[in-house]
Amino acid sequence: MKKVVSVVNLKGGVGKTTTAVNLAACWGEIGKKVLLIDMDPQGSASISVGIMNEGGELLDALQRTAALPVVSTQVPGLDLVPSGMTMATAGLWFSNGEGNSILYQCLEQTQGDWDLVIIDCPPSLGFHTMNSLMASQHVLIPVETSFLGLNGLKQMVTAIETFKLRNPDIKIEAIIPCRAQRRRRIHWDIMDTLKEMFPGKVSPIIRENVSLAEAPGLGKPVILSDRISKGADDYRLVTLWLEDIISGVQQDPVINQVRQLLSSI
Ligand SMILES: Nc1ncnc2c1ncn2[C@@H]1O[C@H](COP(=O)(O)OP(=O)(O)OP(=O)(O)O)[C@@H](O)[C@H]1O
Ligand SMILES: [Mg+2]
Repeated sequence: MKKVVSVVNLKGGVGKTTTAVNLAACWGEIGKKVLLIDMDPQGSASISVGIMNEGGELLDALQRTAALPVVSTQVPGLDLVPSGMTMATAGLWFSNGEGNSILYQCLEQTQGDWDLVIIDCPPSLGFHTMNSLMASQHVLIPVETSFLGLNGLKQMVTAIETFKLRNPDIKIEAIIPCRAQRRRRIHWDIMDTLKEMFPGKVSPIIRENVSLAEAPGLGKPVILSDRISKGADDYRLVTLWLEDIISGVQQDPVINQVRQLLSSI
């Protein structure tokens, strides 16, 4: 069975796509083979790795329950299932609930030796996100360190807990604080709350960084567009922090301590 990670949050603009694309690229950088599935009809993940697509091939694969349309990218180690506006109609083709495991079935038929599959989800709990969650064992939740960000996170956690009835394998592995601004007092308040709510699961922060904002316009992950930026450093660190969790390797107590230390920075 493929190792599948969904990057989800019902709240928009919190850094889901930035996280999915840049973690995928960082895993590629350390020698992993990664398949990035763009399940958002906005097609932002595809654009962020330099690929414009209408999403017709992905919709067609879902309709036929066939292998997913995989394309290679300029990013080392990274393949992509691209999406675009045509995918906005996907939910209309399948009646309530019955179509929630279609992506899973398509993925089972898709041949490739990827170490990891990462799915970028849209900011809603419709067909696209339901299918992504059904296909996944791991969930990463990017969250903005703001009051409304925290509220959105609570809704997301409740939704996933309910979803466990349908996919008992699913697990929230990490909360990733994104667009963090450490000079703001609210940042520290929210970080404290997150650590209380999710002990050991709050990753090192991703700082607000201009290179991360500019990278999608260049069609490249930040490790290629500005490889020694704060954005590149932060995503590399989170990738290492997640490595054992996602690989399922037994965690060394020393590594656990280092992880705790990194989370507190
Ligand atoms: N750490 C960061 N520093 C600066 N800009 C960021 C950072 N993270 C994300 N952004 C920018 O914020 C905007 C929203 O980010 P992103 O597209 O990743 O959010 P999203 O959760 O995927 O949004 P949506 O819900 O629309 O899919 C983008 O313009 C992105 O470039
Ligand atoms: Mg997005």
